[in-house]
Amino acid sequence: MTDTWSQRWSRRGKLAASGSAPSRVAPPGMISFVYGDPDVPSLPLEEMAQAAEYLAENNRRDALAYQNAIQGDELNESLAQKLARDQGIHVSPEQIFVSHGASAGLSLLCDMVLDPGDVVLADAPAWMGATNMFRLAGAEVIGVPLDDDGIDPARVEAVLDDLARQGRKPKFLYTIPTFQNPEGVELSLERRHALAKLADERDLLIVEDDAYVDLRFSGEPKPTLFSLSQRGNVLFSGTLSKTIAAGLRLGYLVGPADVMATMARGAVDTLRNTYTAALADWYLRSGKLEAHIIELRQIYREKCERMLAALEREMPEGTSWTRPNGGFFIWLTLPEGVDAVDMLPAAREAGVDYIPGTAFYSDGSGRGNLRLSYSGVTLEQIDEGIARLAKVTRAALAKAGAPAD
Ligand SMILES: Cc1ncc(COP(=O)(O)O)c(C=O)c1O
Repeated sequence: MTDTWSQRWSRRGKLAASGSAPSRVAPPGMISFVYGDPDVPSLPLEEMAQAAEYLAENNRRDALAYQNAIQGDELNESLAQKLARDQGIHVSPEQIFVSHGASAGLSLLCDMVLDPGDVVLADAPAWMGATNMFRLAGAEVIGVPLDDDGIDPARVEAVLDDLARQGRKPKFLYTIPTFQNPEGVELSLERRHALAKLADERDLLIVEDDAYVDLRFSGEPKPTLFSLSQRGNVLFSGTLSKTIAAGLRLGYLVGPADVMATMARGAVDTLRNTYTAALADWYLRSGKLEAHIIELRQIYREKCERMLAALEREMPEGTSWTRPNGGFFIWLTLPEGVDAVDMLPAAREAGVDYIPGTAFYSDGSGRGNLRLSYSGVTLEQIDEGIARLAKVTRAALAKAGAPAD
């Protein structure tokens, strides 16, 4: 069977066949820091039922009919209002393309702009959901390293210059400026200005993935790259997965109206999730999303603080980690000589799971790092899981320090 299929796969199919996806359901007893899952008890199940009732009472059968992905309808209007209020993005409803989660919007973007052999620049490390899509589209992904202030525009410029000398130009730069996945860091204000300026000067398209922008623990929001670019060189990617519910599968791309219309024509499924869009629209219009976001910020801040405290208490000397001001993730650097890939089987054996840093790079780097997600686990699981991780790390450290036999 498998042999037959190995003949059938396309280039894309072969790439997918060579990968693997771990189950989203952790085995019994396992404390999983793997996925950026939501805090399940706070998912707005009752409010979605209220929204459904509202649609039924108002005879909104159109919410179960076909609708084009982009037609400036109600959800586009309420998203346009939210973007103006929360992200300083002033656009018309026609500039918003509602997709089946941000993932489908980004995937469509790949279909529409990438050809095999193209170059894409990306944060290094970056969310593998996106970089895998770029690779599946046949693109070469060049990583630009991050530090505590996010991606460095000077380094982006250096890569652009380097490519220009080879007669090449990237199709776009993919970056997650706010509470980055996997590092949790935030692009500084100064760098936001510099990056938007660079995009305008060099005619560089930036894909700004701001999936976590609403989940800020403290301080004022920073301006989006989209709002800072004077020449429309930024496409903004947003999602309702982190703030309402991932199961609604609603994300949105924001850009020039004609570009969004072309994207909609190029989509395999040119229609939207009409019903979940109507539920989400009710949730936004009723003001419930704003209130819910305030609640979520509290929940995730508490979990993040709990994990930071546990790391401080438990981890051996030589371990360091990022201190996010929002989002779902902490990025850990293991002590010298400890390898996150090699340590994973022992960690799973001990009942704790994580993603090794290598998954977030395109060049095999990241063996000394791992991503911890605190969003979907309980406070008690955080304490216990970090204690288990620390024990395994100490054992790996002892082994690394032991003389070779
Ligand atoms: C940075 C980033 N962008 C996009 C997504 C995907 O969101 P969606 O569920 O809307 O496809 C995720 C989900 O993990 C993410 O971390």
